[in-house]
Amino acid sequence: MSANAVIPVFAVPPGQALARTAPPLPSFAETIAYLKSRRKRSVHELLVEADAKGSLLIQPRCGVGAQAKMAELLQVLERDARPDVLSLTIDAYTRLCQFERADEVLRENPHQLNGYPLVCHGYERVRELDQLVEAPIEIRHGSPDARLLFETSIAGGITAFEGGAIGYNVPYSKDVPIRASLAYWRHVDRRCGELAEHGIIVDRELFGTLTAVLMPPSISLAMTLLEALCAVREGVRCLSIACCQGGSIAQDVAALRAIRQLAGKYLPGVAVFPVLHQFMGAFPADRAAAEALILEGALAARKGRGIKVINKTYEEAYGVPTAQANALGIWTTRLANSRIADFIVLDEGEVAEETHWIVREVDEIVAPVLARGDLYDGIAGAFDDGILDVPFSASRYARGDVLPMRDRTGAIRYHHVGQLALSRDVLQRNAALLDHATSSPSFNVFDKLMRDILHFVNQPTPGPIAGNGI
Ligand code: 5AD
Repeated sequence: MSANAVIPVFAVPPGQALARTAPPLPSFAETIAYLKSRRKRSVHELLVEADAKGSLLIQPRCGVGAQAKMAELLQVLERDARPDVLSLTIDAYTRLCQFERADEVLRENPHQLNGYPLVCHGYERVRELDQLVEAPIEIRHGSPDARLLFETSIAGGITAFEGGAIGYNVPYSKDVPIRASLAYWRHVDRRCGELAEHGIIVDRELFGTLTAVLMPPSISLAMTLLEALCAVREGVRCLSIACCQGGSIAQDVAALRAIRQLAGKYLPGVAVFPVLHQFMGAFPADRAAAEALILEGALAARKGRGIKVINKTYEEAYGVPTAQANALGIWTTRLANSRIADFIVLDEGEVAEETHWIVREVDEIVAPVLARGDLYDGIAGAFDDGILDVPFSASRYARGDVLPMRDRTGAIRYHHVGQLALSRDVLQRNAALLDHATSSPSFNVFDKLMRDILHFVNQPTPGPIAGNGI
């Protein structure tokens, strides 16, 4: 069966070849039979087990162009750091459905690709990778239209797939209408529903990090909640909902706990697993400062009862990490899984207060969207009106009228809320928490934003004291 027959509609214009190197996809029946024949545990099974045991799964990002190098990278990471889940991070051409271009670069200069061009390699090569390692693999990308990537991944034996119509559009694409990405991701979600009917549970992870710039947790959680509601409606049974370490331990722990509360309220009966991305903003170049930030993220994940954490590395400030730095990032993160970390006790009153306000803000943001009737039209219309908004958005379909800032503790608050339907109570609380900055005679929005964005860059850790004779 050809790729065209398997996918009713997809991103490549009719008549255009896919990738010259990739074979057509197998039939759905062959894919199901292959998936059922695999002995490996799936990401879904690991998540359920980690939730029951109260342990934290650790997952790196990783992706390179050439097949042999990708195989080597996965094996080195598994040998040196034993991550619970591995990743195939997909290259930018494939994310944008530029399969021809990805194919050209793959054949001429594979090292120039910033990830694994999965569609070009084709499902058989993906099966080979999956069989090389013990850990299950998730596809991590950033594609507003991932239909063909999804079909090829599933045929390749991969049953964990990141992304959603908002989180994989707004931060990454300038010109893809929300209505379009909603339709593309609806297709993916529906395919997950079909697979579930055949006993294959796909873990769908939602990228709440969004633009990763001073993201208020309630915006992150509102967007992933709406994506989750869409997914569940189409038959998705397993959801990993991710948010991002912002830099205030109380707020980060609260955000993770809020995911469980919101899931109980809006997604009853659905398996929802909170995930934390270690800090996604501007990272310190200083190695010790970077490792400290990584450890803080790991501890936030543990204290927030996150099920999985996506690790960063001390090379983050410089670009895509080497396998060695990635392995070290995994080990640093693993420190949080030690019982020794139990001696760290948070101010539970402060965390509960933060959780309360995050949940309340999410309720207020999503209420007018859900009141619009049709979920998909509601989301797209709300973006048009600014009722849904994402700060520092790359997309022309999100207004970007929201302006967040850090309070004294480093927690992220709303300075401007744009058209978000937040109540007076919420606005007053946020204004009061930012008052120390905004009422200062020297207050300058631009300077304050720069300082807040570079919050961790400007905190170098002192090195060894010179001349101590050791
Ligand atoms: N391999 C590993 N990490 C990657 N990232 C992006 N592409 C890759 C890749 N191919 C990481 C960046 C950043 C995050 C957004 O994803 O380094 O940490």
